[in-house]
Amino acid sequence: MKSNIAVIGMGVMGSCLALNMANHNFKVAVYNYTPDLTEAFVKNHPHDNITAFYDVKSLAEGMTRPRKFFIMVTAGKAVDSVIESLLPYLDKEDIIMDGGNSFFKDTQRRYEYVTSKGFKYFGVGVSGGEEGALNGPALMPGGNKESYKEIKEVLEAISAKAEDGKPCCTYIGENGAGHYVKMVHNGIEYADMQLIAEAYLLLKHVGGYENSQIADIFNEWNQGELNSFLIGITADIFKEKDDLGEGELVDKILDSAGQKGTGRWTSLAALEQGVNTSIMTSACNARNISSFYEKRQQLAASGLKKVLPVEIDADFVEDVRRSLYTAKIAAYAQGLALYKSASETYDWHLNLGDIASIFRAGCIIQARFLNNITNAYQQEPNLDNLIENEFFAEKVKNNQQCLRKIVAKAILAGVPVPAFANAISYIDGLSTKVVGANLIQAQRDYFGAHTYKRIDREGSFHHQWQKHFDR
Ligand code: 6PG
Repeated sequence: MKSNIAVIGMGVMGSCLALNMANHNFKVAVYNYTPDLTEAFVKNHPHDNITAFYDVKSLAEGMTRPRKFFIMVTAGKAVDSVIESLLPYLDKEDIIMDGGNSFFKDTQRRYEYVTSKGFKYFGVGVSGGEEGALNGPALMPGGNKESYKEIKEVLEAISAKAEDGKPCCTYIGENGAGHYVKMVHNGIEYADMQLIAEAYLLLKHVGGYENSQIADIFNEWNQGELNSFLIGITADIFKEKDDLGEGELVDKILDSAGQKGTGRWTSLAALEQGVNTSIMTSACNARNISSFYEKRQQLAASGLKKVLPVEIDADFVEDVRRSLYTAKIAAYAQGLALYKSASETYDWHLNLGDIASIFRAGCIIQARFLNNITNAYQQEPNLDNLIENEFFAEKVKNNQQCLRKIVAKAILAGVPVPAFANAISYIDGLSTKVVGANLIQAQRDYFGAHTYKRIDREGSFHHQWQKHFDR
């Protein structure tokens, strides 16, 4: 019996996706560049629907047409190598999918290359980690639109299902659109995680709460509008005892965060688009500064920091909750604004409501409020900024004073909350008539004759500035 789809790359994610496909009754061919991983996989997971292959030619011969290859290898050169190894065996209409966290510009290049050879190419964003890959990830396929019908069945079958039963997979757009959407998903993931970490710092170092109380607080928050995968796992984390010593494990974990790069790509792509993703960028920077662990210990001990007393009132925990929710709205507003801008630049026709809808389950940023975002874009598909939508505008109006109070308290107490601070600055920046750019334009005109526009008449002006200042 020939296979309907091949999974190439038998690492953790590839293995889980292959099992997920097999469990959904697809005949799956599995292949890895080195035989060891394939052998181990079929030995540990014998499955009637799975056939192992040890060379690309036999793999290609063992598949129904059009052939569908799902590559799940480390992003970068390995993807190019796999593509090259497949090309000699492909027929017209065969489809290559790349499910790794590939940079969208690489996907655009590969799409052009594979398409120019007469074959079809998809960059598929996959989110949800190991468990998601096995039981239902969120999938973001971007590539040749007319070929989506060939892969729709398998991708939608293996994807997570939202509360309303809809698959967390939809066609995203041409060429690199799927990987772009995944990249920004990860930028939002960074922002979400950083905001949660800041809420924790506030509860612990300003509010003085113990880990067990923080676990209860996150648990309670997870019952309401903040309900999300990340809040849920955070509640679990604070409960976890240290298996090698006293107390909770979280306190024994080195305070230095890693990053593989997709968050940074989002910030770079946002600068390229001229879109403000300050909350995501502050999350990247917070990870950067966390990695100077030794330096931070030294400077902390040096007495450099001088803090001021902070009053904690009865509303403190609720203020942190409202701040987190409001800042989260701002972070998603930034991510969605980036989608809107990139969609125009690359002519992708991204459907922001559909994107929000497929993030409702399976992925790392899955959250109850994605239902509200989905609704917002269903009501207003061309919404400029999420915070203009009635539902979210109301939330921002009602909660922003809490965010102001909390950021002020954190600053007085010397607790770094860059993501919270950027969230309120973003809201203020968007909703303030005068942001000081008149002075920037005056300076540009003063030193570089860059001209300025006036509020009271048309045209561009250059002024002969009186040079009282002598440099
Ligand atoms: C997902 C995750 C996944 C991975 C991140 C981790 O959606 O399943 O985003 O892709 O966990 O890439 O990224 P960092 O190592 O940069 O934190």
